[in-house]
Amino acid sequence: MIHARITGTGSFAPKKVLTNHDLEKMVDTSDEWIFERTGIRERRICEKGQTTSDLAYEAAHRAIKAAGITAQDLDLIIVGTLTPDSAMPSLGCVLQAKLHAKKAAAFDIYAACSGFIYGLSVADAFIRSGVHETILVVGAEALSRYTDWEDRTTCVLWGDGAGAAVVQRHAGKRGILSTHLHSDGSYGDVLHIPGGGAAHPATHDTVDKRMHFIKMKGNETFKIAVRALEDVVQEALDHNKVKAEDIDLLVPHQANLRIIQAMAKRLNMPMEKVILTIHKYGNTSAASIPMALDEAVRDGRVKENKLILLEAFGGGLTWASALIRW
Ligand code: UT7
Repeated sequence: MIHARITGTGSFAPKKVLTNHDLEKMVDTSDEWIFERTGIRERRICEKGQTTSDLAYEAAHRAIKAAGITAQDLDLIIVGTLTPDSAMPSLGCVLQAKLHAKKAAAFDIYAACSGFIYGLSVADAFIRSGVHETILVVGAEALSRYTDWEDRTTCVLWGDGAGAAVVQRHAGKRGILSTHLHSDGSYGDVLHIPGGGAAHPATHDTVDKRMHFIKMKGNETFKIAVRALEDVVQEALDHNKVKAEDIDLLVPHQANLRIIQAMAKRLNMPMEKVILTIHKYGNTSAASIPMALDEAVRDGRVKENKLILLEAFGGGLTWASALIRW
């Protein structure tokens, strides 16, 4: 039996910390409001000049080392991001150059917060079909560069960071058991960056109208997210014929503690089985799952043969799950 197995993980967050108390000085908000509504206490923000590829490089380097391979062994690099260093080239190609991963093809996946699971799904398909043997999947974001620091409804949410996983061919029962991907583009405008694309290329007017920042209808997104995540998690359980109690660890996208608690309740899962990083990193979009996964791998909560469920929801709208036998 051929599976795609994660053989190494890595993550990286910029040093600079922005606390809720710092935000109290910037917009009309409070530590109490932010923590109660989201579970966030602080987040990391890129230094001036630090870019998404810098974060991605550090995370990738750690994952490659953990897998016991070199960058030259990589057949493919897949990066989930909505904040590449520039519109072209792709972040994957920038990362490929920084890693000197000469043999690897590279591309980006544009599925917002679901980007890492989407990437994992593509890697899984390439490996099980025999096309590639060793793939690096990265989630990396510098959301602070797209944050409207005058909009209290969004600026308190986002953070910067990167996470990575080396995925390799494994003849055996362990590895990615299933992935399920979903999208509904009819809800595109509940979570979007309206400016900077072909519809509204950058002009003085788009800048004046603040169209280059992330906009979100938070409450609407919240409600759709809970429903969609419940469905995609059930789909993963049904597909694999496993029960919720069989799941050893949940590694959710870290958008809102209340959404994560709702999912844990739905799975009848104690919060000890849920990996949480939202309090210290905020919502890092595509980076949040691989950052949380790496933390749990390194502190020993992820163990051989454990059944691990990943789930994400984000702009697009997109949502996804992956079930892994570690
Ligand atoms: O990662 C991609 C997917 N993202 C998500 O899934 C995020 C989903 N949404 C959320 O996490 C939540 O909707 C938010 C955390 C964004 C907002 O929480 P909420 O409980 O849905 O609050 P709300 O938007 O309904 O706003 C409640 C009140 C409003 O005031 P009024 O109209 O009731 O007077 C807001 O103006 O809270 C106000 N408010 C704030 N107050 C203090 C909004 N932002 C802030 C703030 N500080 N930062």
